[in-house]
Amino acid sequence: MIAYNKQENEKKSKFIWCSWRILAILMFLTIGIQYVAVKTIRSYRFENCYVSSGTGYCSPNGGQVSHWFGCPRPDPSNNQPTEESASRKHILILATTRSGSSFLGQFFNQNPDIFYLYEPLYHIEMFFGSMAGRLGSKLNNKVLVGAFRDLLRNVFDCELHSLEPYMKPFPQHHQTKHLFRRAASTALCSPPLCPAEDAKDESVCAKRCSNLNLTLAAEVCQKRAHVVLKTVRFNNVADLRFLAEDSRLDLKVIHLVRDPRAVLSSKMVAFQSIFKDYNAWKKNGAMPPQTDTSLATAICKTFLPAMHLGLKPPAWLNGRYMLVRYEDLAREPLEKAREIYEFVGLPLEPIITNWIVLNTHGTEKARLHHLFSTYRDSAKTAENWRLSMDYNIAQFLQNACNETFAELGYRSVSSLEELRNINTTLVEERNFTYFT
Ligand SMILES: *[C@@H]1O[C@H](CO)[C@@H](O)[C@H](O)[C@H]1NC(C)=O
Ligand SMILES: *[C@@H]1O[C@H](CO)[C@@H](O)[C@H](O)[C@H]1NC(C)=O
Ligand SMILES: *[C@@H]1O[C@H](CO)[C@@H](O)[C@H](O)[C@H]1NC(C)=O
Ligand SMILES: *[C@@H]1O[C@H](CO)[C@@H](O)[C@H](O)[C@H]1NC(C)=O
Repeated sequence: MIAYNKQENEKKSKFIWCSWRILAILMFLTIGIQYVAVKTIRSYRFENCYVSSGTGYCSPNGGQVSHWFGCPRPDPSNNQPTEESASRKHILILATTRSGSSFLGQFFNQNPDIFYLYEPLYHIEMFFGSMAGRLGSKLNNKVLVGAFRDLLRNVFDCELHSLEPYMKPFPQHHQTKHLFRRAASTALCSPPLCPAEDAKDESVCAKRCSNLNLTLAAEVCQKRAHVVLKTVRFNNVADLRFLAEDSRLDLKVIHLVRDPRAVLSSKMVAFQSIFKDYNAWKKNGAMPPQTDTSLATAICKTFLPAMHLGLKPPAWLNGRYMLVRYEDLAREPLEKAREIYEFVGLPLEPIITNWIVLNTHGTEKARLHHLFSTYRDSAKTAENWRLSMDYNIAQFLQNACNETFAELGYRSVSSLEELRNINTTLVEERNFTYFT
């Protein structure tokens, strides 16, 4: 009996030992199969996908993209960023009209790894504007914001076709001559999108590049490593939560602000008919009674909610928001460019620093001795609005926007002499933190 049990136990332990061995072999086999599978998928990706300037790049970020150009589609249920998408940046520049956003945009537009688009939301605003006109109703802001957000999401994914329904005239066979400010994007002014080799300059592009093939433009966008969009039509950072929380995007928001007095002064010149009451005010020294003061106060009021949210960011925005004052950009463009590139997590390439040096001489001091470029002029003249602005209008804005002035570090003036003396700056030194 005992002998029998012993034999049985030996059998059992042999059996257990055997199963362990089988299990171990099975485990190794599984790991091996997985390894081979992963390797195959990877090599398949890189063989079939576009490779731009040394960085293998397949798709912006799994999920909803419909243009796959032969790349295997990752499992949409897997929301983890893939290896490629993890390094792809989606940068949104939020600005106000006349706040110097074209200058900031060049920091990215000049970068051949970046697909830069200037104001894609223009077409939506025109579309809803004319629609509201026909229906005789006011624009429904919620609808507009929803459309803006969806379009930003799609364009970040290089889905440029999603612009088409809003364009007038409607593109034929995905070809259009009417993409708003197409010439402001060097990617859209270079081969293969524009046959002319030397049309990167905005005015040359506008003349020499004809129809834009949006299908091809989407392919060019896919090939570039990062996407940067600029808009002045969207200011509420809270509405960006949907994009910030989308794990397939790596969203970075750069909020560009400028002294509201400078913005108003510039708008009064650029949009004379809209600001005709202000120009009359300046001319006659008294505010016309019918003046729509919200035209002026909107300039500073739109900064505040975004700033308040961004500078004390909730978790979803933490590390994704940076506040930039145009005056700092104009004063120390190289230093600011370094900070901005560090914030977005990209290396600042010589092509950008060279562009900045060539166009601004890097600092204000150097710039004062060389005057020959538009950007140099606009940077140098960051406070030149003070020479022409009406003192009463400046005072009105300072009072109506006192909170914005205090928070952004713009000093109020209390006399005409103080306003005109550009030897003393009205821009206080400030460091805005963007990580908590
Ligand atoms: C636009 O570009 C796409 C993609 O390269 C191409 O297939 C199509 O033929 C082009 N359309 C025209 C009208 O040239
Ligand atoms: C702004 O002006 C209002 C009303 O004049 C005042 O109550 C408030 O304290 C001012 N805020 C700042 C930051 O100066
Ligand atoms: C500003 O500085 C320049 C040169 O330093 C000087 O000539 C000019 O008088 C100053 N202007 C005022 C208003 O102080
Ligand atoms: C801002 O930061 C710089 C460099 O870190 C420092 O020298 C300067 O004193 C700071 N300024 C303010 C107003 O905190």
